Amino acid sequence: MKLHWNPASPFARKCLVCAAEAGVELEKIARGGTALMTDNMPIEQNPLGKIPALERPDGPAIYDSRVITQYLAVQGKCDLYPEAQIWEVLTLEATADGMMEAAVLMVYEGRTRPEEKQFPDWVEAQWSKINRALDALEESWMSYLAGPIDAAQIAIGCALEYLDFRHEGRNWRSGRPRLDAWQAKFAKRESMANTVPEHL
Ligand code: BEZ
Repeated sequence: MKLHWNPASPFARKCLVCAAEAGVELEKIARGGTALMTDNMPIEQNPLGKIPALERPDGPAIYDSRVITQYLAVQGKCDLYPEAQIWEVLTLEATADGMMEAAVLMVYEGRTRPEEKQFPDWVEAQWSKINRALDALEESWMSYLAGPIDAAQIAIGCALEYLDFRHEGRNWRSGRPRLDAWQAKFAKRESMANTVPEHL
């Protein structure tokens, strides 16, 4: 199966890590671009032009990352979405995806908008969302994160490392010792160590 991917994308990384944990092999097709530069986007596979998108043998290409991770879990017959805690795993994965989305929007504000049109208050509002989510993880989700690996843990691991990758100066670890310790351990998994984000 072919995953349309970008080495900096935390959403695409989440799919790669789920595939590795589920024992599903993927071929990576490098993609890039922005809403203003669509030449190298997987528009044939996803009309929205977004990565990740997955070409599969048993039907049309699928997207977005949460659809792909569920598909990979089924293919690998792997319990990344445990039925007994399905609402927790989906909520926590949505929290991670929301953090990634806010963090990516902050990057794209600087990357795609002319300087005179950038809006620092809006960037700070994105960071506030991330801050609130980080506090919720530290205060309410640590016992869940200590349990067996699932798609939500993978998503949180990818979101936190994306914060290190693009927003290192914000120091998300400050005042969150338990989440810091969890991330340091989770990052050592082979599936995570093999998919560290890269600057292009
Ligand atoms: C990034 O460069 O940070 C990035 C690239 C693709 C998707 C998301 C983020």
